[in-house]
Amino acid sequence: MADKKAILTIDGQQVELPIMSGTLGQDVIDVRSLGKYGHFTFDPGFLATGSCESEITFIDGAKGVLLHRGYPIAQLATQADYLEVCYLLLHGNAPTEEEYKEFVGTIKNHTMVHEGIEFFFRGFRRDAHPMAMLCGIVGALSSFYHRDLDITDADQRVRCATRLVAKLPTIAAMCYKYSIGQPFVYPKNDLSYSENFLNMMFSVPAEDYKIEPAVAKAMDRIFTLHADHEQNASTSTVRLAGSSGANPYACIAAGIASLWGPAHGGANEACLNMLEEIGSVDRIDEYVARAKDKNDPFRLMGFGHRVYKNFDPRAKVMRETCHEVLNSLGIKDPLLDIAMRLEQIALEDEYFISKKLYPNVDFYSGIILKAIGIPTNMFTVIFAMSRTIGWISHWHEMLSQPGAKIGRPRQLYTGEAEREFTPIKK
Ligand code: SDX
Repeated sequence: MADKKAILTIDGQQVELPIMSGTLGQDVIDVRSLGKYGHFTFDPGFLATGSCESEITFIDGAKGVLLHRGYPIAQLATQADYLEVCYLLLHGNAPTEEEYKEFVGTIKNHTMVHEGIEFFFRGFRRDAHPMAMLCGIVGALSSFYHRDLDITDADQRVRCATRLVAKLPTIAAMCYKYSIGQPFVYPKNDLSYSENFLNMMFSVPAEDYKIEPAVAKAMDRIFTLHADHEQNASTSTVRLAGSSGANPYACIAAGIASLWGPAHGGANEACLNMLEEIGSVDRIDEYVARAKDKNDPFRLMGFGHRVYKNFDPRAKVMRETCHEVLNSLGIKDPLLDIAMRLEQIALEDEYFISKKLYPNVDFYSGIILKAIGIPTNMFTVIFAMSRTIGWISHWHEMLSQPGAKIGRPRQLYTGEAEREFTPIKK
């Protein structure tokens, strides 16, 4: 196909910029040569900027499509388990039976954390937010694993990836146990990934914890639905941190910090708090009016998305899972009634239709997590745990690509022109 080009006229000079096409999705204009014409592009918030080339996840916001390595999310969420999804995100293809067994075995061999980690927790207040603890502990992991930190070695990068996928549930559960003053529970390798996490969260030395299969299945599906999402804020944070050569644990801690914001992964906790604040169906109109009011910073948590201008395909699967879990557990949660009514109003309301604000991945997840017995302040920890495979897969891909360079955006400077400094004594 003839090379496509974009023509820019700058100061009367015609500048040709190559247009690149991917496998799917819109083309991109390669502006890397623009610097030599004395201009930068300007795109705060990266609304129209492709930051990298990637083969991991594809999103079509207009059609509500989400593919991981080409596999549609609805098929993965219903026909694969989370560790299968972890394997294909990291390695590129769905695993064979053999590859899956070996991968699961490797994960199981890394589920325990160094005993020294326990002493890191002792420094936190009991009422510290679990995300604050998670961020600190994961950042500190590099102090235990010096031997596998040659990030130029692909095998060591994969070892770091499997170590992180294996240990995040253990650390996440430790954050919860510490916050409620209960003893830490060690991983049990005869349990599946989601069963093991639930056991570390809810079992106590005094009695065994009975794992409900429906709950374990819902937990596994929640992990899958949060596993990766292209170049979102936290993934871009991990890539930028990784581009300086920082160790993978520090990069993942940076991703955790970025995800914590209520506009991003913190929305699931914020969404449930919002539903509880609304309290009843007849107060929804008041909150919808506030969401529309330009002078009111209130936004409907769980609605809207930078990319999806259609239903978030994960929200669809999450909604089905929500009904399955509540029915199988025999729970009638009034918050679900509020959520369903809110969704219906938002989908019919001119403001939300015109701004293409649909429920996103965070809208229903909070209701499922609450039904499973996960406390609200642990919701974003679950999101971070699930997203670790996405973050580390992008980190691994970036470092596998030849010519990886440190990320260094420029700016439009609107400050003071040069001026003389007058020392304070004068
Ligand atoms: C996640 O990027 C990802 O992929 C993220 C994620 C992932 O998997 O990694 O999908 C996970 O973060 C999902 C999003 C969770 N966040 C929330 O639910 C918080 C509520 N949503 C908003 O904060 C907002 O919708 C964002 C941050 C999600 C998207 O914001 P954008 O794309 O920057 O759009 P915007 O803020 O400029 O909003 C566009 C318009 C604005 O009105 P105008 O200025 O055009 O008049 O829509 C309005 C906004 O005021 N708007 C909302 C709204 N979201 C946007 N109005 C009311 N309620 C909302 N929720």
